[in-house]
Amino acid sequence: MGDPHPNPPQATAPSVTAPKLRAHALSRSFGRGTRALAALGPVDLDIAPGEFTCIVGPSGCGKSTLLRIAAGLLRPTAGELSIRTASPRPAAMIFQDYGIHDWKTVLANVRFGLDIQRVPRREADARARDWLVRLGLADFAGAYPAELSGGMRQRVAIARALAVEPEILLMDEPFAALDAQLRTIMQDELLDLTQTTRTTTLFITHSLEEAIVLGDRVLVMSARPGRIIAEHRPPFARPRTGDIRSTPEFTALKSELWELLRGEVRGEAARA
Ligand SMILES: Nc1ncnc2c1ncn2[C@@H]1O[C@H](COP(=O)(O)OP(=O)(O)OP(=O)(O)O)[C@@H](O)[C@H]1O
Ligand SMILES: [Mg+2]
Repeated sequence: MGDPHPNPPQATAPSVTAPKLRAHALSRSFGRGTRALAALGPVDLDIAPGEFTCIVGPSGCGKSTLLRIAAGLLRPTAGELSIRTASPRPAAMIFQDYGIHDWKTVLANVRFGLDIQRVPRREADARARDWLVRLGLADFAGAYPAELSGGMRQRVAIARALAVEPEILLMDEPFAALDAQLRTIMQDELLDLTQTTRTTTLFITHSLEEAIVLGDRVLVMSARPGRIIAEHRPPFARPRTGDIRSTPEFTALKSELWELLRGEVRGEAARA
């Protein structure tokens, strides 16, 4: 393992097509003067159309900050991030805290983005119900979020984001609240889905397994302020299935990533 960063991040994705998302010298701090906190960056990142990019990094290193900037919810302090869209379809983001509406039924929550896009009611209902079936929520279309478990609420948020068929899917630890079995099922479902739709995805997770199963590439971020310190491309051809979890290559890559991450997590813990 000698060299801690054996696979340094590339300035540009190895694609001839223009990137769907590009960040250049992107950084963000919070507060001012002596109380300023450098949260993120500088980060350079290109994401090619159809690429599934996973980011792992220690808690508090700026991952959600990066996603919020990508979603247009936060401005960078320096540098820039641009998203190239080819249609009026929105980018979508799944928040860590679900962000679903307690006063709307499950069906209405999933239909929410489609209503905003003015998709005709009948079609919107059909698409929303289809996603409820895919996420095992068909029997809860008329229920309110308060009647659901935490994992079910999270699935509602996932269904809502996927139903709008976004150009770029921005996911911030979407499976964190799920139990291990359901998490595995959801990973396989998302793998299947994104391989079919080729949706460009930026996916943040604490789980190395999740990053390796899902990602075309896995980026490792440093402790705060988060920078990209390594990039790995899991050596599994597409379309792939969750069966790769039991291969030696999977275990080897997981250990390699953990070696990298461990130092950063320790550094963060020592500072806290
Ligand atoms: N709105 C804000 N105001 C002030 N500080 C903030 C704000 N948002 C984030 N921070 C700080 O920026 C740093 C990065 O936060 P961020 O939420 O991006 O981390 P993260 O990598 O997503 O962590 P986790 O893995 O725990 O979700 C943290 O130190 C956090 O306290
Ligand atoms: Mg976060």
